[in-house]
Amino acid sequence: ATASHTTSTETLVTDKFAFAFDIDGVLIRGGKVIPAAIDAMKVLNGDNRYGIKIPYIFVTNGGGKTEQERCIQLSQQLQMEVSPGQFICGHTPMRELVQKYHTVLVVGGEGEKCREVAEGYGFKDVVTPGDIIKDNEATTPFRTLTEDEYKNSRARNFAEVDIEAILVFADSRDWASDQQIILDLLMSKNHRLGSRSDTYHDAPPVFFSHNDVVWSASHDLTRLGMGALRVSLEAMYKAVTGRALQTNAFGKPQLGTFQFATRLLRQWRLETHGIDSAPDTVYFVGDTPESDIRGTNEFDSSDSSENTWYSILVRTGVYQGGTTPTFAPRATVDNVLDAVRHGIEREY
Ligand code: G3P
Ligand code: MG
Repeated sequence: ATASHTTSTETLVTDKFAFAFDIDGVLIRGGKVIPAAIDAMKVLNGDNRYGIKIPYIFVTNGGGKTEQERCIQLSQQLQMEVSPGQFICGHTPMRELVQKYHTVLVVGGEGEKCREVAEGYGFKDVVTPGDIIKDNEATTPFRTLTEDEYKNSRARNFAEVDIEAILVFADSRDWASDQQIILDLLMSKNHRLGSRSDTYHDAPPVFFSHNDVVWSASHDLTRLGMGALRVSLEAMYKAVTGRALQTNAFGKPQLGTFQFATRLLRQWRLETHGIDSAPDTVYFVGDTPESDIRGTNEFDSSDSSENTWYSILVRTGVYQGGTTPTFAPRATVDNVLDAVRHGIEREY
């Protein structure tokens, strides 16, 4: 039954609805918390006129750190505890590729951080652009490794290594050299660096952890994201080889991400609140029409969703208002606190 009243000793939890939050542009911007987010979390945690708690999860396309580390950071920013059991980032579903690929090129992120993330997922053999530059510094004419990068990189004879897949885990810190290395591998013979295929028929698959062309960071205007690197790589491959390149992306708006989120929410509600049923409605709060709103709407109307997924667009990130969003949300509000209030009002 719906928790519609409180007792003096404990706060009840609703089993009827739940929230899922995007992070950048909704809760955080350029590493700083958006003030409305702190109040929104308080409302969810029971500070509302019905005295109920409302379960919630976080679904970001961002990445570059382990889920654990990201939750510690988010806990500090939101001034409450966030658990990895309620958190999905762009590269979380990439852990399923461990079954398929042994040796992978992992691109993006700060230093060698993403190597650590990938190894944590269980990848047996992780190669980074740093390893390749250390082995042959002529790979990237305009990039030399810093002392730290050199120390942390692992050179070996790449002519003998079969790199089976390319995984872009987080935003590239150096597009030119990362793209050179990805192209070298795509154009190689049998996935061996240093060789060139005659046919370009044996390119390894490329996976991006998401497809956001732009995102909301500290600057007033949106900044280029991983989806822009994807567009650029595909165009460059075409320019150099004359062939089209098909790449893959995880993250929102992919249905798989929302299915993953459904499983996570089910598990989270069961483990922390003892609720063993699906909520009737999940309110998804996002700032990017192409990822958050599109994904929520498409999942809602797909056969794979077991309940209503209700999209709410805020004006604090990629979308700023004033124009018609490219994908129409069920509701548009100023910020995440208003989004939470909107959901609650709809329920009572
Ligand atoms: O790089 C992260 C960005 O593209 C989106 O993050 O939290 O808005 O899904 P988020
Ligand atoms: Mg966002």
